[in-house]
Amino acid sequence: MTLNEIKQMDKSYFMNTFGERVPVCFSHGKGINLWDIEGEKYYDFLGGIAVNALGHSHPALVNAIKEQAEKFIHCSSLYYIEAQAKLAKLLVENSCADKVFFSNSGAEANEGAIKLARLYYRKKGHPEKYEIITLEKSFHGRTLATIAATGQEKYQKQYSPLTPTFNKVPINDIDALKKSITKDTCGILIEPIQGESGVNETTVEYMKAVRELCNERDILLIFDEVQCGLGRTGKLFGYQHYGIEPDIFTLAKALGGGFPVGALCAKGSVASVFEPGDHGSTFGGNPLACNVAYAVVSTIINDKLSENSERVGLYFTNSLKALMDKYEFIKEIRGKGLMIGIQFSKPIAKQINTKCFEHKYLFGTVGDSILRILPPLILTTEDVDSAIKVIDAALKEI
Ligand SMILES: Cc1ncc(COP(=O)(O)O)c(C=O)c1O
Repeated sequence: MTLNEIKQMDKSYFMNTFGERVPVCFSHGKGINLWDIEGEKYYDFLGGIAVNALGHSHPALVNAIKEQAEKFIHCSSLYYIEAQAKLAKLLVENSCADKVFFSNSGAEANEGAIKLARLYYRKKGHPEKYEIITLEKSFHGRTLATIAATGQEKYQKQYSPLTPTFNKVPINDIDALKKSITKDTCGILIEPIQGESGVNETTVEYMKAVRELCNERDILLIFDEVQCGLGRTGKLFGYQHYGIEPDIFTLAKALGGGFPVGALCAKGSVASVFEPGDHGSTFGGNPLACNVAYAVVSTIINDKLSENSERVGLYFTNSLKALMDKYEFIKEIRGKGLMIGIQFSKPIAKQINTKCFEHKYLFGTVGDSILRILPPLILTTEDVDSAIKVIDAALKEI
């Protein structure tokens, strides 16, 4: 089919939630490259929005899919599943978590985290403790509870009444957080680095203070690491930048390297709160998803991709900062590792993105003035050099 034919079919039959899409349809990929149906080669610096951690068609991922698909894809979690047990062990051995539950997406993992936090206090005899505080500009998913948890009105306004009990406070404002805690607060849910609002970082002082506050006030600290987890920021988990540990954290996106899978991870006594019947999922934790995620996480660890993300990410941000001398409308370069945002002082992000696309480089935007960069973690400094040339050329044209 031609791009035009696909476009027409899409417009006729697919619900229009994505608006006017980027005019391209990819047929295959390898490493950081994608090829469209006309054979044109592209450079993927968005990585499926922080999903394709190993790049496209990585042999470890492809083999894990083939190997498991040839055996069987699905069986109910009523039965023991080897890949599920192995993936849970791998995540526990490499994080602060003691137990794990698998979902199919980030939103679902966060739903599980919200349920777990509420149930923790209910089982301790405090059913009134069900409120969760989240941050303004956060993003936690598209289900009803997770849009309510999300601190951005644009995702919520058409779906009111929302699930109550998610109070929002500004990022890095410990006094505002303290003021919003009530006797009913059971959890504080935070993205260590906010992704969907344009790469906004929490500070070390803030996170340490939040952890102390949670200890003092008997509140669970929950990190949404769906976007910033699994090597993206230069450490395997975002919380490792802060010298503290959350009680619960969630993963998805990079976990399957492109295959849908999420995880709810919990520590200490929180990890044993769910009992038979308290939570479940038909597809979550299926043999295929877990075998793939096992291969992805093992590769991230064994190939030291977090370290690569830190090194190449630093090179990237330094190269971008060098462009600030040339273009006064670059206001700020934000992020850690390969989670990078360029804040412009003018609403030019979409134009820049389009120019880069014309040069076959794929980036993303947040609003009108932020360009976001979330490439595969296998990125090299040579890849960065070529991207910088393209960004420079786009900025010059603007
Ligand atoms: C931080 C964060 N949490 C949750 C989600 C939702 O994940 P999913 O789209 O897999 O439901 C996202 C997706 O962008 C995210 O960035």
